[in-house]
Amino acid sequence: MKGEMKELKLTVNGKPYELEVKAETLLVDLLRQELKLTGAKVGCLDSACGACTVNIDGKAVRSCSVLALQTNGREVTTIEGVADGDKLHPIQQAMIDHGAIECGFCTPGMVMSAKALLDENTNPTREEVKEAIQGNLCADEGYVKYIEAIEIAAREMRGGQ
Ligand code: FES
Repeated sequence: MKGEMKELKLTVNGKPYELEVKAETLLVDLLRQELKLTGAKVGCLDSACGACTVNIDGKAVRSCSVLALQTNGREVTTIEGVADGDKLHPIQQAMIDHGAIECGFCTPGMVMSAKALLDENTNPTREEVKEAIQGNLCADEGYVKYIEAIEIAAREMRGGQ
Protein backbone atom coordinates (compact mmCIF):
# COMPACT_ATOMS: atom_id res chain seq x y z
CA MET A 1 0.00 0.00 0.00
CA LYS A 2 1.29 3.46 -0.89
CA GLY A 3 2.78 5.31 2.06
CA GLU A 4 3.02 2.18 4.17
CA MET A 5 6.29 1.98 6.12
CA LYS A 6 8.30 -1.23 5.98
CA GLU A 7 11.44 -2.40 7.67
CA LEU A 8 14.58 -2.50 5.58
CA LYS A 9 17.91 -3.99 6.57
CA LEU A 10 20.79 -3.48 4.22
CA THR A 11 24.48 -2.74 4.14
CA VAL A 12 25.72 0.40 2.45
CA ASN A 13 29.45 0.86 1.93
CA GLY A 14 30.11 -1.78 4.56
CA LYS A 15 27.86 -0.17 7.18
CA PRO A 16 24.71 -2.00 8.30
CA TYR A 17 21.44 -0.05 8.42
CA GLU A 18 18.01 -0.85 9.83
CA LEU A 19 15.48 1.61 8.52
CA GLU A 20 11.78 2.21 8.05
CA VAL A 21 11.01 3.15 4.47
CA LYS A 22 7.91 3.76 2.39
CA ALA A 23 7.13 0.86 0.08
CA GLU A 24 7.44 3.13 -2.96
CA THR A 25 10.77 4.77 -2.01
CA LEU A 26 13.37 4.42 -4.74
CA LEU A 27 16.86 3.34 -3.80
CA VAL A 28 18.32 6.55 -5.23
CA ASP A 29 16.08 8.60 -2.94
CA LEU A 30 16.95 6.50 0.09
CA LEU A 31 20.64 6.97 -0.61
CA ARG A 32 20.52 10.68 -1.39
CA GLN A 33 17.81 11.90 0.95
CA GLU A 34 17.90 9.58 3.96
CA LEU A 35 21.53 8.48 4.02
CA LYS A 36 22.88 11.75 2.55
CA LEU A 37 25.00 9.85 0.05
CA THR A 38 24.64 12.20 -2.88
CA GLY A 39 27.33 10.72 -5.12
CA ALA A 40 24.77 8.79 -7.15
CA LYS A 41 23.34 11.50 -9.38
CA VAL A 42 19.79 11.96 -10.55
CA GLY A 43 19.68 12.55 -14.28
CA CYS A 44 16.64 11.10 -16.00
CA LEU A 45 14.93 9.14 -13.18
CA ASP A 46 13.88 6.85 -16.00
CA SER A 47 16.61 4.16 -16.12
CA ALA A 48 18.08 5.80 -19.21
CA CYS A 49 21.18 7.82 -18.25
CA GLY A 50 23.10 5.70 -15.74
CA ALA A 51 24.04 8.69 -13.56
CA CYS A 52 22.50 6.97 -10.53
CA THR A 53 24.43 3.69 -10.93
CA VAL A 54 25.48 1.90 -7.75
CA ASN A 55 26.59 -1.66 -7.14
CA ILE A 56 24.23 -4.15 -5.51
CA ASP A 57 25.98 -7.36 -4.49
CA GLY A 58 28.71 -6.38 -6.95
CA LYS A 59 26.46 -5.78 -9.96
CA ALA A 60 25.99 -2.36 -11.54
CA VAL A 61 22.38 -1.27 -11.07
CA ARG A 62 20.57 1.99 -11.75
CA SER A 63 19.35 3.05 -8.35
CA CYS A 64 16.39 4.93 -9.84
CA SER A 65 15.07 1.66 -11.19
CA VAL A 66 15.07 -0.22 -7.90
CA LEU A 67 12.85 0.13 -4.87
CA ALA A 68 14.76 0.57 -1.65
CA LEU A 69 12.94 -2.48 -0.26
CA GLN A 70 14.37 -4.62 -3.04
CA THR A 71 17.79 -4.21 -1.43
CA ASN A 72 16.68 -5.88 1.81
CA GLY A 73 19.51 -8.11 3.03
CA ARG A 74 21.79 -6.96 0.25
CA GLU A 75 25.02 -5.08 0.00
CA VAL A 76 24.99 -1.71 -1.72
CA THR A 77 28.14 0.15 -2.70
CA THR A 78 28.02 3.75 -3.79
CA ILE A 79 30.76 6.00 -5.11
CA GLU A 80 31.35 7.13 -1.51
CA GLY A 81 32.42 3.59 -0.62
CA VAL A 82 34.89 3.03 -3.44
CA ALA A 83 38.04 4.77 -2.18
CA ASP A 84 40.16 3.13 0.48
CA GLY A 85 40.40 5.93 3.05
CA ASP A 86 42.42 8.70 1.41
CA LYS A 87 43.54 6.41 -1.38
CA LEU A 88 41.37 6.62 -4.46
CA HIS A 89 40.31 3.43 -6.19
CA PRO A 90 42.52 2.71 -9.25
CA ILE A 91 39.51 3.48 -11.49
CA GLN A 92 39.05 6.90 -9.91
CA GLN A 93 42.78 7.61 -10.05
CA ALA A 94 43.06 6.56 -13.68
CA MET A 95 40.09 8.71 -14.67
CA ILE A 96 41.71 11.75 -13.05
CA ASP A 97 45.22 11.04 -14.35
CA HIS A 98 43.95 10.34 -17.87
CA GLY A 99 41.82 13.49 -18.00
CA ALA A 100 38.61 11.52 -18.50
CA ILE A 101 36.48 13.73 -16.27
CA GLU A 102 34.86 16.76 -17.83
CA CYS A 103 31.75 18.11 -16.08
CA GLY A 104 31.83 15.09 -13.74
CA PHE A 105 28.09 14.48 -13.61
CA CYS A 106 28.28 11.04 -15.19
CA THR A 107 31.55 10.09 -13.46
CA PRO A 108 30.20 8.36 -10.31
CA GLY A 109 27.98 6.16 -12.46
CA MET A 110 30.85 5.40 -14.84
CA VAL A 111 33.07 4.42 -11.91
CA MET A 112 30.42 2.11 -10.48
CA SER A 113 29.80 0.41 -13.84
CA ALA A 114 33.54 0.01 -14.37
CA LYS A 115 34.02 -1.30 -10.84
CA ALA A 116 31.37 -3.99 -11.29
CA LEU A 117 33.21 -5.09 -14.44
CA LEU A 118 36.75 -5.02 -13.05
CA ASP A 119 35.78 -6.71 -9.77
CA GLU A 120 34.79 -9.69 -11.92
CA ASN A 121 37.36 -9.43 -14.65
CA THR A 122 40.55 -7.38 -14.47
CA ASN A 123 41.44 -8.27 -18.03
CA PRO A 124 38.43 -7.18 -20.09
CA THR A 125 38.49 -6.65 -23.82
CA ARG A 126 37.73 -3.19 -25.15
CA GLU A 127 34.32 -4.51 -26.20
CA GLU A 128 33.61 -5.64 -22.64
CA VAL A 129 34.62 -2.23 -21.30
CA LYS A 130 32.37 -0.51 -23.84
CA GLU A 131 29.52 -2.82 -22.96
CA ALA A 132 29.96 -2.18 -19.23
CA ILE A 133 29.56 1.59 -19.64
CA GLN A 134 27.17 1.65 -22.57
CA GLY A 135 24.28 2.58 -20.26
CA ASN A 136 26.15 5.54 -18.81
CA LEU A 137 25.44 8.61 -20.87
CA CYS A 138 28.13 11.30 -21.03
CA ALA A 139 26.92 14.67 -22.25
CA ASP A 140 30.52 15.68 -22.95
CA GLU A 141 31.06 12.67 -25.24
CA GLY A 142 34.11 11.64 -23.24
CA TYR A 143 33.76 7.93 -23.88
CA VAL A 144 37.17 7.27 -25.40
CA LYS A 145 38.99 8.75 -22.41
CA TYR A 146 36.77 6.84 -20.01
CA ILE A 147 37.40 3.58 -21.85
CA GLU A 148 41.16 4.18 -21.87
CA ALA A 149 41.13 5.11 -18.17
CA ILE A 150 39.26 1.89 -17.31
CA GLU A 151 41.84 -0.10 -19.28
CA ILE A 152 44.64 1.68 -17.39
CA ALA A 153 42.90 0.89 -14.09
CA ALA A 154 42.48 -2.75 -15.11
CA ARG A 155 46.23 -2.98 -15.78
CA GLU A 156 46.92 -1.40 -12.40
CA MET A 157 44.58 -3.88 -10.71
CA ARG A 158 46.41 -6.75 -12.41
CA GLY A 159 49.64 -5.48 -10.85
CA GLY A 160 50.83 -3.60 -13.92
CA GLN A 161 50.66 -6.57 -16.32
S1 FES B 1 18.73 8.84 -13.04
FE1 FES B 1 18.73 6.67 -12.98
S2 FES B 1 19.23 6.09 -15.01
FE2 FES B 1 19.08 8.26 -15.12
